[in-house]
Amino acid sequence: MTDFIHLFKPPTRSGGPILLLLHGTGGDENDLVPLAEVLLPEAGVLSPRGKVLERGMPRFFRRLAEGVFDIEDLKFRAAELADFISETAATHNFSTRDLTAVGFSNGANIAGALLLLRPDALGAAVMFRAMVPLVPEQLPRLAHTPALISNGRLDPLVSAEETEQLASLLRSAGADVTVSWQNSGHELTERDVVTAREWLAQRRMR
Ligand code: MLT
Repeated sequence: MTDFIHLFKPPTRSGGPILLLLHGTGGDENDLVPLAEVLLPEAGVLSPRGKVLERGMPRFFRRLAEGVFDIEDLKFRAAELADFISETAATHNFSTRDLTAVGFSNGANIAGALLLLRPDALGAAVMFRAMVPLVPEQLPRLAHTPALISNGRLDPLVSAEETEQLASLLRSAGADVTVSWQNSGHELTERDVVTAREWLAQRRMR
C-alpha cells in the first residue's frame, strides 16, 4: 500500500466527480480545497501532499534547477502517485475515470506526467501554469481525455512555446486539449478560476 498524507472527501452523490488536487511547490493538501469548492462544489476531493522536500517545501518530484526536472525521480513519483490513486479508488469505491486532476505549477506538472505515463489514473486534467514535465519514450493512448491548460502570457517560468509543446504532445496522444491564456504571470488569477469552472461545467453537461 502506497501512502500519502492526504485529504479525502466523497462526492455528494455516489459516482459523482472527484477532484484530485495537486498543490504547487511549498503547498500542502489544504491549499487547493477552497478552489475546489468554487470549481465544482458537489465534487469529492482527493488531495495528497507531495512527498519530496526542497528546503522544507513539499513538491511532487525533485528538480535539479528551476524548470529542470529529475526525470528518473519524476517517473518514480508519478508511478507512486498513480498507485496511490488507484488504491484509494478501490478503497472508496470510485472509478479513476471520475477523477479530474486540478494542479497548479508543480502540481500541474505531475498531472501532466500522470497523463503521459499513467493515463489510467485520471479521467481529465486542469493544469494551471503547466510545463512539459517529460517527453515519454512511447506516447500513451489518451482517447479524448479532456485537458485544460491555463497558462499566463507574462509567466517568466513557462514560455508560450513550452505551453504549445505540451498541448501538442497531449494532442498527439489523443487528448482533447483546450489552451487558455491569461494576462498574468505564474500566479493564479480570478480568470483562471472562471475559465476552469466553465470548462468543468461544459464537460459535465455533455
Ligand atoms: C515550481 O515552482 O513549482 C515550478 O515552476 C514548477 C515545477 O518545478 O514543477
